[in-house]
Amino acid sequence: MFSQEEIKKRTGAYAADYVEQGMTIGLGTGSTVYWLLQELGKRVQSGLHFRAVPTSRQTQTLATELGIPLADLNNVDQLALTLDGADEIAPGLQLIKGGGGALLQEKIVAAASKQLIIIADENKVVNTLGKFPLPVEVIPFGWKQVQKKVMQQLGCQLVELREKNGGTFVSDHGHYILDCHFGQISDPAELNEALHLIPGVVETGLFVSMADIAVVGYADGRITTTT
Ligand code: A5P
Repeated sequence: MFSQEEIKKRTGAYAADYVEQGMTIGLGTGSTVYWLLQELGKRVQSGLHFRAVPTSRQTQTLATELGIPLADLNNVDQLALTLDGADEIAPGLQLIKGGGGALLQEKIVAAASKQLIIIADENKVVNTLGKFPLPVEVIPFGWKQVQKKVMQQLGCQLVELREKNGGTFVSDHGHYILDCHFGQISDPAELNEALHLIPGVVETGLFVSMADIAVVGYADGRITTTT
């Protein structure tokens, strides 16, 4: 049996095969994508040519260290594909993302891609979204108003301001993140729309009908591909 870290490593490396010579792609964020980047870095050294738009400063830094050429999304019409992780994957490839706080840039890059390919270990697969607290990126000004509305209007029991190292977590784009404990999200599309109607909400971690493929690694060594 493989450990969770080994599963992430194997799944990330496996997904590198999606990247073909000459492509311009999006590169996600997180601990599974970390292993994808390690593999892609090796392939670049062996002669694979591609360019990547990173979804976070973290990925930008790591890709640069590994010699992966970067591209500016404003100089690209459409990305061939984006490879990214997820916090939950439900039937229909509905996702919760943003555990690492990069959801805004991840969603912009995913929306610019022909295909969104999700890489994850088996622990991310769920029947219903919502056990993982939904990250919602908000403008810092008046964030408590958003918190109140998510609780009172949308019935969320607990909405926590994300913290890091004893202070408020600030996203790459200068925003705060509210982690919303919905428990169960029966209609992700409806909730996504309702959240977007609250002034101060920048983006949500609900990726509704965006993913095309999920590559999932299991402890027994299997790696499955779901479309
Ligand atoms: C980053 O903001 C997230 O959306 C990540 O893609 C997600 O948290 C998955 O990361 P791991 O592969 O580290 O679990």
